[in-house]
Amino acid sequence: MTDFLRAVKTVIVPAAGLGTRFLPATKTVPKELLPVVDTPGIELIAQEAAALGATRLAIITAPNKQEVLEHFKPCPELEETLASRGKEEQLRKVRRAGSLISPVAVEQEKPLGLGHAVGLAEAVLDEDEDVVAVMLPDDLVLPTGVLEKMLEVRNELGGSVLCAFDVPEDETYNYGVFDIEEAEYQGPHHVKKVRGMVEKPSVEDAPSTFVATGRYLLDRAIFDALRQITPGAGGELQLTDAISLLIEQGHPVHIVVHEGKRHDLGNPGGYIPAVVDFGLADPVYGPHLKKVLRAILEEHGA
Ligand code: G1P
Repeated sequence: MTDFLRAVKTVIVPAAGLGTRFLPATKTVPKELLPVVDTPGIELIAQEAAALGATRLAIITAPNKQEVLEHFKPCPELEETLASRGKEEQLRKVRRAGSLISPVAVEQEKPLGLGHAVGLAEAVLDEDEDVVAVMLPDDLVLPTGVLEKMLEVRNELGGSVLCAFDVPEDETYNYGVFDIEEAEYQGPHHVKKVRGMVEKPSVEDAPSTFVATGRYLLDRAIFDALRQITPGAGGELQLTDAISLLIEQGHPVHIVVHEGKRHDLGNPGGYIPAVVDFGLADPVYGPHLKKVLRAILEEHGA
């Protein structure tokens, strides 16, 4: 494989949020461990990171949220029991997360924002890492593989590359929104050059309908920018503001507009369709689910 496609060693996964939109489940279970069919969201992220060739998952956690890391550790008693009962398939599932990638915990003591969370991960990077990926575990970007496209674009245009979706105008206020222009790019992907970026603007102020969605390929220069920003939208240190600063400083930033689909695991309204989607695609549960869903839809007059 071409070297540049293996450039990312560390994937940063901010997972320190309180998961308030999932209460009461998140009183005791971090939202990153809620299952999509049978696999926690964090393991889907680990799979995607491993497929990218990354070897380290820098998981930013809150001090009382260590269970996310536990998911990657061996479980000797359970493994022995499963092995003695010949439950090979279940054993494979128990061991899978730990075999994908090495997790490293980075503690964020206070919820000071996404920019702050990402900045903390610099401490675990090796000196030779000049690029990192950030994957927000709330966002499932499907089909997977958008970061590979983003690496191709970085290889050609340099700098940082972000994943974008084109959303309806009245939804832009939920996101980091890009101010864009045409890129000098002839390749196969849908690429735009970013002139600036605004975090959660009002609908009138949104510079476009292209929004950031959970996958970032960031040049190491981001960490200097993160040190220079001050609290922005919501009083938090915003990754969006650090990216804007990079652009002001002359650093190239582009987006790859993803043409696939996306699930937002960060709230029940996005999580439920994700489970239905993955459930329908599941060879074991899919056929039955299709039948019962039809009946349920009819019952609800849909
Ligand atoms: C974060 C980012 C935002 C981005 C969004 C994607 O916001 O700050 O720029 O568009 O993720 O899901 P959050 O959803 O954490 O409020």
